[in-house]
Amino acid sequence: MKIIVTDFDNKEHQLDAIEGWRVMEIIRDHGLPIKAECGGACCCATCHVYVEDEWLDKIPVARDDELDMLDEAVDVEDSSRLSCQLIMSAALDGLRVKLAPTG
Ligand code: FES
Repeated sequence: MKIIVTDFDNKEHQLDAIEGWRVMEIIRDHGLPIKAECGGACCCATCHVYVEDEWLDKIPVARDDELDMLDEAVDVEDSSRLSCQLIMSAALDGLRVKLAPTG
């Protein structure tokens, strides 16, 4: 299973992904620059990513607490998600996201 992450220099990284892990954890454990200050508790918005268009209708919809937290994020787009709230599964194999500014 893999995810593809575009970094701040527009460089793509193919990362091995493990079922059940948070997308944020996968990005962080591969050493890409994601702050994820709250460690995945949905209370910091520093794991903000943009989900590529073709994946938007394939990922689970955001819960209210994620949407509330995204309100605090910077440069929020329609494709914005908190990567700690995306749990890796076979359905997300090949997911493409782009790191978002976190202020
Ligand atoms: Fe803090 Fe995702 S790591 S909201």
